[in-house]
Amino acid sequence: MRNKYKRYTITSALPYANGPIHIGHLAGVYVPADIYARYLRLKGEDVVFVCGSDEHGVPITIRAKKEGKTPQQIADTYNALIKKSFEDFGISFDIYSRTSNKTHYETASDFFLRLHEKNAFKVIESEQYYDEEQKEFLADRYIKGTCPKCGFPDAYGDQCENCGSTLSPAELIDPQSMLSGSKPVLKKTKHWYLPLDEYEPWLRQWILNGHKEWKPNVYGQCKSWIDQGLQPRAVTRDLDWGVPVPVEGAQGKVLYVWFDAPIGYISATKEWAEKTGNDWELYWKDEETRLIHFIGKDNIVFHCIIFPSMLHEYGEFILPDNVPANEFLNLEGDKISTSRNWAVWLHEYLEDFPGKEDVLRYTLCANAPETKDNDFTWKDFQAKNNNELVAILGNFVNRVLVLLNKYYGGEIPERGELYDLDKELIAYLEKAPEIIENSLDQFKFREALANFLELARAGNKYLAETEPWKLIKTNPGRVKTIMNMAAQVVANITVVGEPFLPFTSSKLYDFLNLGKLSWQDAGSVDLLAVGHKVNKPELLFTKIEDDEIERQIKKLKSTALENNTGKENEIAAVKETISYDEFMKMDIRIGTVLEAEKIKKSNKLLKMLVDTGIDKRTIVSGIAKYFEPEDVIGKQVTVLLNLASRKIMGIESQGRILLAEDKDGKLIFVVPEEGIDNGSMVS
Ligand code: MF3
Ligand code: ZN
Repeated sequence: MRNKYKRYTITSALPYANGPIHIGHLAGVYVPADIYARYLRLKGEDVVFVCGSDEHGVPITIRAKKEGKTPQQIADTYNALIKKSFEDFGISFDIYSRTSNKTHYETASDFFLRLHEKNAFKVIESEQYYDEEQKEFLADRYIKGTCPKCGFPDAYGDQCENCGSTLSPAELIDPQSMLSGSKPVLKKTKHWYLPLDEYEPWLRQWILNGHKEWKPNVYGQCKSWIDQGLQPRAVTRDLDWGVPVPVEGAQGKVLYVWFDAPIGYISATKEWAEKTGNDWELYWKDEETRLIHFIGKDNIVFHCIIFPSMLHEYGEFILPDNVPANEFLNLEGDKISTSRNWAVWLHEYLEDFPGKEDVLRYTLCANAPETKDNDFTWKDFQAKNNNELVAILGNFVNRVLVLLNKYYGGEIPERGELYDLDKELIAYLEKAPEIIENSLDQFKFREALANFLELARAGNKYLAETEPWKLIKTNPGRVKTIMNMAAQVVANITVVGEPFLPFTSSKLYDFLNLGKLSWQDAGSVDLLAVGHKVNKPELLFTKIEDDEIERQIKKLKSTALENNTGKENEIAAVKETISYDEFMKMDIRIGTVLEAEKIKKSNKLLKMLVDTGIDKRTIVSGIAKYFEPEDVIGKQVTVLLNLASRKIMGIESQGRILLAEDKDGKLIFVVPEEGIDNGSMVS
């Protein structure tokens, strides 16, 4: 594909500055965006890669109220934290800005004004809930009431978290202001609306006819929005946190966060241009610039329909050429949730796995939810580290560098006559960058990563087949060729690996004692000149042991918060039917607890020694919150004996004590009605 673009503007969703970021954000948006930006730069393209904190919106004001702080304080805290996480993981933004700064206020205001002057908006008056005590209009999130669909008493004005229905505040039964607790009244207010309905024919043409190449999930969502009929959208709110609406008669109103946030991409570019002496307009208004938005799937409508409509209405601006939105990443089979603290936070990951930035980048890219939601599990993380990064990539690089040092004092030997195996490897190396490039150009980052790892696989295979360590005595000339070839493979890995594993690539450049090459250099077996001296390597990756993984899983589970939406306080549904034989496989008996003690560093676990009538065994149970050791010592309990044993906090737990749990999570022991011999069977 010939390149018709002179430059690239790459944006990645501006994270809300009301909480830290987690692996889901990284996998869905920032790792792919970063790989893409690095790849283009490596090709020598002119790229600006922008991001920043999205600091407006109601959730930030809610958090501020709860914590007795100002929204700006909340935004300051999380902006700093998020910015640091991105730096830590090597996300190579040219600028990380924020929507609370001056440039952004001006840019967003001007943008609104221009549309206003063009008469683009419809001003519509409607009735909205108002808190008479606080003298404030209430954002949907500030109104609580009973869900009209399921009767849940604490539904929000925009959504019921119990049944998941989307609501409007007017539908709530017995609405209540969350600011004062008073009953809100309906009051007239006017807002500025973007008439999306009027843009429908244009959107249909531009997306549905013009961008059939967009990812199916993105194209499909756009089509469904357009087919359902677009409605005018209010782009102002009655709120005191945000960019003030810059026209008369708009006191107490600000721009809707989703109006100002994407303009943040433009403001950030302006700031960057000012600092670096570039012309921002080239990056937003020149037809030869390619604009690409990296986002998660919940942002599709804003980036494919609303923001382009704004740009289109404004005129002069280019439109996104592609919006490679990803689906969501789950964690250990469950939806990542900030409120339930079911997440792996980036700043915590690095505390637990210092120096393993690339391991996470690698696993997240390998599992990127490109076509469907995907699952991150710690076990898989461990497997990818141990079986791919350590065993394939790290092992290959290490073998080559160690042998080069051992045989030739680190100097690249010359190649002699080439055999078939060498020629095959050369042919493969020559086309490898192009294969990876093809995947990257289509935003298929998982595929690209797999093809990248192939390089190390091919290198390992080559060594296994040529066995230089066996030939070194008998055919030293041949070994020179082999080691030259293998070193060239390492050099190729170094170059094309940079977008994926920048930390590793930079170590490899050091090992190889090589100045930075460009993407176009890759695909050659002459990256390292004969006689060039390489350094001694260190290990690139280290094995992650089971107990580290168990610790992570435990940490995740023990810090997860109960879901207090009421959803979990339901009687669990009946499990699938099992056969009589399956039931009879269980060996359940009565036993007596002889000893019990709390496990240090856990507030949940009790370690017990149980006399089962057959043996005395250790069983660990998650009941320490409900029972003290003295509550259970001497107690007869029911034990599942033939459950496979497992290690919990380093302790081998053999079997399971049966407990009953009610819908509120209260636990009681299942015990025989009267005393009976230990070892008695239950069936
Ligand atoms: N803050 C939004 C979110 O996290 C994304 C904003 S993207 C931008 O979902 F368009 F506003 F920049
Ligand atoms: Zn409901």
